[in-house]
Amino acid sequence: MAASPLETRPFPDGDALAMALLSLLLESAAEAIRQRGRFVLSLAGGSSPLPLYRLLGETPADWSRWFLLYGDERALPHGHPERNSTQVEQLWLAPANFPATNHLLPDFSHGLDMASSRYEGLITPYLPPDVVLLGVGEDGHTASLFPEREMANAQGNSVLAVSDAPKAPPERITLSYETLNSAATVVFIATGSNKRQAVTRMLAGDALPVNRIRGRQRSWLFLSGTVPTPGG
Ligand code: 6PG
Repeated sequence: MAASPLETRPFPDGDALAMALLSLLLESAAEAIRQRGRFVLSLAGGSSPLPLYRLLGETPADWSRWFLLYGDERALPHGHPERNSTQVEQLWLAPANFPATNHLLPDFSHGLDMASSRYEGLITPYLPPDVVLLGVGEDGHTASLFPEREMANAQGNSVLAVSDAPKAPPERITLSYETLNSAATVVFIATGSNKRQAVTRMLAGDALPVNRIRGRQRSWLFLSGTVPTPGG
């Protein structure tokens, strides 16, 4: 499957980045809904997408054809402040009255392995995602795919269980490389000076998880703050 080259878009600050990303998502959603009757978005965890989620919570839209799943999720109870879904619910879904049936939530109440296999079943009818949003870790990880951690995936699963993540908490589920790469569009979000080295290595093509994921049609790296821009 051909992969698209990484295109970078630098922004002066996180708000400008979020505004541009909002426009990209709304355009992508309109196109997907026109062509296939639905828009499937894989959400990024961590803090970088929070300005975007806040903006989405303030955006009047018809969410009935949007379907949300998670690129990764920490193995914590629903509503836990450290869960990626908690931020999404508080900033976007609750204020927007987003249809709960379209929010594909991992459930860890029966343990990590059950969460992984049940999430696999839940999201399979919605794959491939139209757009995948991903953060960039300081070590070049993304979702819960970390450097030097070969993810055994003999069964070709879409969802993998992680029990030794170097970024707390150690237990998570994550979409597989194959599933993330099945998306038409991938957008990485990197903000802040602490991502300088990771972005430099990413743009140099280093063998990192962030460089093993590209969209079939478009791959973007949205940068803001003091993160270096190409030739900057
Ligand atoms: C997680 C995230 C993780 C995150 C990066 C960047 O659950 O921790 O999925 O991959 O996207 O670590 O995190 P920040 O955006 O907070 O820097």
